[in-house]
Amino acid sequence: MSGIMAFTVTQSRYFIYKYNIMSLPQPSQLAQQHSETLLKQIQTVIAESGGEISFAEFMQLALYAPAAGYYSGGLEKFGVGGDFTTAPEISPLFSQCVAEQCAQVLAELGHADILEVGAGSGIMAANILLTLDSRQQLPDRYYILELSAELRQRQAETIKLHCPQCFERVQWLDALPLSGFRGVVLGNELIDAMPVQRFIIEAGQVREQTVISHDGELRLASREADSSLVAAVRKIEAELGEDFTDGYESEINAAAEAWLQSVSELLESGLVLLIDYGYTRREFYHQQRNTGTLMCHYQHRAHPDAMILIGLQDITAHVDFTALAEVAANNDLSVAGYTTQAHFLLSMGIEQRVAKITDSNQQIKMTQQIKQLVLPSEMGELFKVIALTRNLALPLQGFTFQDQRSRL
Ligand SMILES: C[S@@+](CC[C@H](N)C(=O)[O-])C[C@H]1O[C@@H](n2cnc3c(N)ncnc32)[C@H](O)[C@@H]1O
Repeated sequence: MSGIMAFTVTQSRYFIYKYNIMSLPQPSQLAQQHSETLLKQIQTVIAESGGEISFAEFMQLALYAPAAGYYSGGLEKFGVGGDFTTAPEISPLFSQCVAEQCAQVLAELGHADILEVGAGSGIMAANILLTLDSRQQLPDRYYILELSAELRQRQAETIKLHCPQCFERVQWLDALPLSGFRGVVLGNELIDAMPVQRFIIEAGQVREQTVISHDGELRLASREADSSLVAAVRKIEAELGEDFTDGYESEINAAAEAWLQSVSELLESGLVLLIDYGYTRREFYHQQRNTGTLMCHYQHRAHPDAMILIGLQDITAHVDFTALAEVAANNDLSVAGYTTQAHFLLSMGIEQRVAKITDSNQQIKMTQQIKQLVLPSEMGELFKVIALTRNLALPLQGFTFQDQRSRL
């Protein structure tokens, strides 16, 4: 591990080009034991599967294996003491702007709910509830769907601490509701945490990246891709109007597409608001992005090696927003907006929120936070916001300054 080069993340997660190259820190003995336990579990699954599993199966286990996966275990993960920082952890202003967008939709729908999927530490939920409470516009229910039992507990503690008066409205779900949901479905940095299939082009053929166990360690390998993965890659090539060249590697997030299809089935009327880092399809599968977008985060260092620090590091891939728009179009959802995080937050009045603060120290602090959220060199450009709606004929405030739907 000491030979692995990584990049220190100074601010938010994703701007590795400006980081200093350095080695990854050694995990503690306890963390190493935790990692060994998960490694053995994954090796057992590999053996039972005939010697290899798909990269997507590996990623699912590494992140979500009960009690041992990265998100299921008790590691710190978010913020300064963890591995990465997300927008709601950087500033409450982010969640306040999301809350304002929810308020616009809740006002239109009358009695309605919010469902947050993948709520992390719970800080976005707490700040959304605080903001809506102050406007006397709370949803009937604030549902949270979270895969990690450990994070559910942390979310409950965060909400109790920051917004005790709202706690009774919060309800944790074990699965997506089946139908009849009216309100807003929220996901911040959710799609990037879903397990992706990886493909590589070899001698003109599509091969699927797999994971094998060799000399006690996990290694990447490849096998002939099944027909659905081949079809997905060929469809992208056809849309781009050119074939991928030999050696080209990238990801397909079939899990996200299936998830969004389920969400489309449950939504009777309202908004699905997804915020994540990613691109349109043409940008995502650019010939020069020939090693894909997979990235790992460990103690604020970003590097591309998913075969190390098993269960101790986050593994993530960028989002193909065109794929989400396609699922929406095929399932009778309208794409009501697509823009950068910067334009969304500015449209929601993030600057005016700071202008109202009278304490000058607080104002300086908040101004620094706004810079992290909106500057193109920080999170402002890479992060995008997509709005998908059903039975909601409302120009959404977050897309007032810019709407790039036509680019999807
Ligand atoms: C990168 S974290 C983002 C957390 C939080 N939204 C934030 O912005 O700080 C991803 C979160 O999504 C959760 N998650 C991933 N896939 C999920 C799924 N299919 N259903 C529910 N939660 C999921 C993870 O457990 C984790 O809480």
